[in-house]
Amino acid sequence: MNERVSPPPVSPAPATPWLHGLRSNPDDRPQFFQDLVQRYGDVVRWRFLFDIFLLNHPDDIKRVLSAPSEKFSKGTLDYRILALSLGNGLVTNDGPHWVYQRKLMQPLFHNRSINPFDEPINRLTNALAERWARQPAGQSVLMEREMGKLTFEAVGTTLFGVDIEQHADEISKVLEVVNVSTQELRSILLLLLPWLPLKHTRASRDAVARLDRIVFGMINARRASSERRDDILDRLLAARDEDTGAGMDEQQIRDEVVTLLLAGHETSSNALAWTFWMLTQHRDVEARLLEELSSVLNGRPALSSDLAQLPYLKQVVQESMRLLPPVWAIARRSHQDEVFQGHLVPAGAYITIPIYALHRHPEFWPDPERFDPERFNPNRTDPRHSYCYIPFAAGPRTCIGAGMAMLEIQLVIANLLPRFRMDVAPGARIEPAAKVTLTPKFGMPMTVTPRHAAST
Ligand code: HEM
Repeated sequence: MNERVSPPPVSPAPATPWLHGLRSNPDDRPQFFQDLVQRYGDVVRWRFLFDIFLLNHPDDIKRVLSAPSEKFSKGTLDYRILALSLGNGLVTNDGPHWVYQRKLMQPLFHNRSINPFDEPINRLTNALAERWARQPAGQSVLMEREMGKLTFEAVGTTLFGVDIEQHADEISKVLEVVNVSTQELRSILLLLLPWLPLKHTRASRDAVARLDRIVFGMINARRASSERRDDILDRLLAARDEDTGAGMDEQQIRDEVVTLLLAGHETSSNALAWTFWMLTQHRDVEARLLEELSSVLNGRPALSSDLAQLPYLKQVVQESMRLLPPVWAIARRSHQDEVFQGHLVPAGAYITIPIYALHRHPEFWPDPERFDPERFNPNRTDPRHSYCYIPFAAGPRTCIGAGMAMLEIQLVIANLLPRFRMDVAPGARIEPAAKVTLTPKFGMPMTVTPRHAAST
């Protein structure tokens, strides 16, 4: 007779004291989460104003991120707030409609579609380099601003072609208002109740209305024109469902465009700024990277076809995003009782995947604080858990723009680093702050000195 196997015991997850961390600065939340998982383990019930479950084991993260939305959805406060400005674009959408939209949009981001973006990215980077070269010696720039402007122009150009030029300044100002008011609304609501009905604040409502006027204007102008640009807007307008032949309506195109504008520039700009900063802190890594760039490119800008010959460049970017992931946490909501590492996470619970802490998990990352691009050497033979490194998330909702972001980040570094020596401005304090993305808390002032001038 078979013995009956009793199910493993289930216990409540280790919990923090009530309101623990309420007084901690929200800017320091990545480190706060890191402290919690170090102290309590890979499943932590952070008792804030409501329970938030931190999941820090790659096996558990895989279960959450690869499950359909009926099990773990984006029905969290953060996404509801974001939806006020992004509408129902890919980031905030969920369920069968998201599946439909993702399928429709995926081909727009295949390598063969994005590789030709190397030309506009290099053109914009060259313009920045020329501006830097004209600066008086020793004058510093705010690196996160410079990269923010560049990546905004890059995503704007790839989305709208030349149409973006006349609107770029206004759109980026409006997006900044949207961003700031999103954060303010989030902070206020977290101190109230997470299920309150949401309304725009006045500032964000006005900003969104201005953004809509510009974006709808560009969509309508493009529809009315017979010219083909082959930018992303053209492709969104042409996208058709394979089975029904149906396209997207006006509002959906607006939501996707605004989503791509917002999701596609602050993330990449912070990855770039942090990588440049890392290189100022690790001159040996910078020297090796410069050597690789010079031997492959010999002074010319990189093209998408060169990137396969520049493995160390990719390793440096990957390691920089391990330690300073622009998206430092991911939120989900559970829809049924689940057991993780023997601990119950009940239906309706808020789940946080603390990417910043996961990327330092000592079981998967020996000497985790050390900046070491060799961890990503493609010739390494020791296998790594596929969910212990997730700067672009993973599973079906993995970042649709990951390939485009990597292309852009690598091209910009390959173009700028050989031309300028970067140094942190004297007296500057560089620390991360957890806003929507991980940004430099006090800015990132740096001097950028043309290398030919630096060597004379
Ligand atoms: C270094 C740069 C970037 C990082 C670190 C990043 C990171 C992420 C992460 C972590 C997610 C998953 C969020 C979640 O599931 O909760 C995501 C989703 C997304 N990202 Fe990115 N991203 C970057 C660049 C871009 C770019 C350049 C674009 C587009 C031009 C983009 C568009 C999107 C979209 C549309 C989604 C939602 C995908 C879906 O759920 O179907 N991202 N990104």
